Amino acid sequence: MHDLKTHIEQVLSALKKELLSAQSTADLEQIRVTYLGRQGQIAALMAQLKELSTEDKKTFGPLLNEFKKSAEELYEKTKKTVEQLQSDQDRAKKHAFDVTAYKRPALQGSLHLFTHIIEHLEDIFISMGYEIATGPEVVTDYYNFEALNIPSDHPARELQDTFWLTNPNYLLRTHTSSVQIQAMESKSVPLAIFAPGRVYRNEATDATHDFMFMQGEGLFIDKNVSVSHLLATAKAFLRAYFEKYDLEIRARPGYFPFVEPGIEIDASCPFCKTGCSICKYTRWIELMGSGMVHPNVLRASGINPEIYSGFAWGFGLERLAMVKYGVNDIRLFRSGKIDFLKQF
Ligand code: FA5
Repeated sequence: MHDLKTHIEQVLSALKKELLSAQSTADLEQIRVTYLGRQGQIAALMAQLKELSTEDKKTFGPLLNEFKKSAEELYEKTKKTVEQLQSDQDRAKKHAFDVTAYKRPALQGSLHLFTHIIEHLEDIFISMGYEIATGPEVVTDYYNFEALNIPSDHPARELQDTFWLTNPNYLLRTHTSSVQIQAMESKSVPLAIFAPGRVYRNEATDATHDFMFMQGEGLFIDKNVSVSHLLATAKAFLRAYFEKYDLEIRARPGYFPFVEPGIEIDASCPFCKTGCSICKYTRWIELMGSGMVHPNVLRASGINPEIYSGFAWGFGLERLAMVKYGVNDIRLFRSGKIDFLKQF
């Protein structure tokens, strides 16, 4: 039995030694498992008690209990000291943090070019007294075609390849002209709206065509509106957009079933006087489709064409951006290429 007493003393002295050199909570955990854990050395000593005679149990039982208690107390005391030490060290580390130290600059995001252009266009039209309008991208055949004087058997449907939805009669709008009808139905005349938005066409893509792109639509309706109002508005808007106050426009006949007459508007090249690669040496750039709102379209929206008349136009936002910023491939806008986007 003398052996057990010696063993207890050895374990206690080894425990004290290890606790004294503990530096971190991880060290402490290791000590706890070795000595105080369920498989630890103290548990092993306790197990030996069962083997002893009743006489020896009387002597060693209290001795072992006393030993276990003091080992636990010693452990708890050291734990508090080590935790305090660790939190002092953490605090000291924080104080040593140099807030003025050099940090590599983070990449800074910016608004997409389209956001800038749309805001610029909205400012131009709001300054002319227009209201900004929006409409859904999923529309019925009625809003995209029928009410725009393009009945189901009209060959002009072929001009805009359509993404039809599986839900019959619904489609992804092929142009923002659908907002013309929605605006005429929901607002009263006279009205002046500008509607920028995304449109979709079931087309193969190339440098100037995408299957999803943006258009800007304008609609103005009042009494006694004529082609000269349309041309004056187009000129004022294009001059403001390109920030070229000597820019000229020219009108060519065009065909869109929802306007009569239909007019294609070109602008004099904002970048040259004698011809350049942007205007393909013609000095003119094709910019938008337009015309006087067809009486059938006014009628479909409950507006009397004997009293009111109006004009409308629609342009491709990407094409406008390509001309202004010299971009040669429409697909770059949605490519997500940072080198391209950060130029603007
Ligand atoms: C229309 O979409 C008519 N709704 C415009 C209009 C409005 C005419 C009001 C009269 C009155 P068009 O299909 O030509 O017209 O398209 C208008 C513009 O969208 C084109 O001039 C072009 O700039 C742009 N566009 C057409 N198809 C694509 C395409 N696949 N990718 C990129 N831009 C395109």
